[in-house]
Amino acid sequence: MERLVPEPGPTSVSDQLGDYRPWEGPPADRPRVVLNFATTLDGRASIDGRSGPIGSNTDTAMLVGLRKRFDAVMIGAGTMRVEHYGRVISDPAVRERREALGLPGDPLMVLIGSLDLPWDAGLFTDGGGRVVIFTADEGDPPPTATPVEVVREPGGRVEMATALRHLRAEHEVRALLCEGGPRLHSQLQAGGLADELFLTIAPKLVGAGTTILEGALPEVAELDLEWLLQEGSELFARYRRR
Ligand SMILES: NC(=O)c1ccc[n+]([C@@H]2O[C@H](COP(=O)([O-])OP(=O)(O)OC[C@H]3O[C@@H](n4cnc5c(N)ncnc54)[C@H](OP(=O)(O)O)[C@@H]3O)[C@@H](O)[C@H]2O)c1
Repeated sequence: MERLVPEPGPTSVSDQLGDYRPWEGPPADRPRVVLNFATTLDGRASIDGRSGPIGSNTDTAMLVGLRKRFDAVMIGAGTMRVEHYGRVISDPAVRERREALGLPGDPLMVLIGSLDLPWDAGLFTDGGGRVVIFTADEGDPPPTATPVEVVREPGGRVEMATALRHLRAEHEVRALLCEGGPRLHSQLQAGGLADELFLTIAPKLVGAGTTILEGALPEVAELDLEWLLQEGSELFARYRRR
């Protein structure tokens, strides 16, 4: 892997993330919020309805590396229904290393949306870690091996700023990695709640599918490039909200 910006030269995913400590110095009333997405050259965030086929193994390594460095991981119900998440950190040695850094062994898994979820997914059946679901649904989730807390949001939809305040105040979440999807992303950007964007740009054209951000923003969001990495024809950008 080559670093193109800043200071061109050889690098690796672990070199790039080695000093990355997103949990340090969060805003007072919410976690630092970092987005991670993969896109094709024509701006698509899915191939045949899935995100997995977009990126290479290096993209997976970047995602796995990021997950090691956050208190919590958040996704929308749409992404959960498609991607059927399992336990986010399955390797006990990685959980130990997280604890040594002062992070919880398992990141808190945060879901936003209805309770129409794939309850047979490993995230719920594994028994490890904890899940918080912010929902406007009135029903109850089925019994799960993994502890699930439901936070009810009246009014038909979850307010992202309220949910983030709750995560910071009640769960001590200092750094939150949002892995999508596009509709959740647009709400975070619209609310000025997205601090950083890690974007993998895959050298692929697909011609159809969702984009990384679905939903108009009240104003154009401007971002600054923090780094740009290259592995073959794939690019890995990290942006910070201006
Ligand atoms: N390329 C990438 O990096 C990447 C990353 C993630 C996902 N994806 C792709 O994106 C697609 C899924 O797109 P999506 O837009 O459906 O994903 P999403 O944003 O994860 O889910 C949208 C759903 O989340 C719930 N939701 C979002 N905001 C809410 C709010 N404020 N209040 C209550 N519920 C809320 C709703 O769930 P209910 O419908 O249950 O009410 C809504 O239908 C899949 O193809 C996936 O593979 C790509």
